Amino acid sequence: MATLTVLGSINVDHVAQVDHFPRPGETLTANQYQTVAGGKGANQAVAAARLGARTTLIGCVGEDAIGTQMVAQLAADGIDTGAIDAVPGQSTGLAMIYVDSKGENSIGIWPGANAALSTERVERHQKRITEADLLLLQLETPVESLERAAELARKAGTRVVLNPAPARTLPDSLLRHIDILTPNETEAEQLTGIAIGTLEDADRAASALHERFGISTVIITLGKRGVWLSQDGQGEHIVGFVVEAVDTTAAGDTFNGAMVTALLEAQPMAQAIRFAQAAAALSVTRMGAQSSIPNRDEVMALLAEQN
Ligand code: RIB
Repeated sequence: MATLTVLGSINVDHVAQVDHFPRPGETLTANQYQTVAGGKGANQAVAAARLGARTTLIGCVGEDAIGTQMVAQLAADGIDTGAIDAVPGQSTGLAMIYVDSKGENSIGIWPGANAALSTERVERHQKRITEADLLLLQLETPVESLERAAELARKAGTRVVLNPAPARTLPDSLLRHIDILTPNETEAEQLTGIAIGTLEDADRAASALHERFGISTVIITLGKRGVWLSQDGQGEHIVGFVVEAVDTTAAGDTFNGAMVTALLEAQPMAQAIRFAQAAAALSVTRMGAQSSIPNRDEVMALLAEQN
């Protein structure tokens, strides 16, 4: 069975449901509050594991009770947690999340132990990268470590997928090691300077990413409008699923974890994207990050119903 290594963040999410996002100076009482397992790296690993990929997560938690609990939950999802370090003197990363009545979110992060995912740690766990078939990265851990991981993967022939979230500028030296890039509209604009209003804009942004960095596959997620897939400059629009959104948190993470799972099963790219869209659509119908990620049977049922 093909193997996946995810390298990324582990957070505990403090989620408050509100009618609207608080304005500067405003104090709001939430309608509901819960703590949920989150972090982009962990969410993507959970999505892949629940959907059938053999998954390892490289990451860091604090030496605290919540960190121990998060690692136990990841192991219960079937993830190999042997490369998750508990960092002395650090607290586990956390996210403060408001979800409004439209299901949109606003997120503030405290990186905590995620900031300790250094190049030394990556090198210590390098076997898990070089022996994997695919490495999946995001941007909530130090960029120099992502660069080192991508470089190790490239040398070993491990395919590298980068979900460039949350949006930030990136060194060319990282982007040049990427095989598949999966930005949303904001992230694509951040990387190319092209605002994504139309499908033509998405096509131009994808072409810029192919040309500037040699990235062979660019997948721009467009929210309700679906996905723009560009493979070596050949563009294609793939429409999504229609669902009632309750909370969009971790929809992108579910998409990425599901897509790489399908690719590791040698599904063709457009089919892998439909699989990922179905998984992400299900996730937005539920509250929270890992609490919203579906299993394989649920995804297959939605695909059978709406394909
Ligand atoms: O992508 C959603 C995630 O972003 C949340 O789980 C939160 O932890 C932040 O990392």
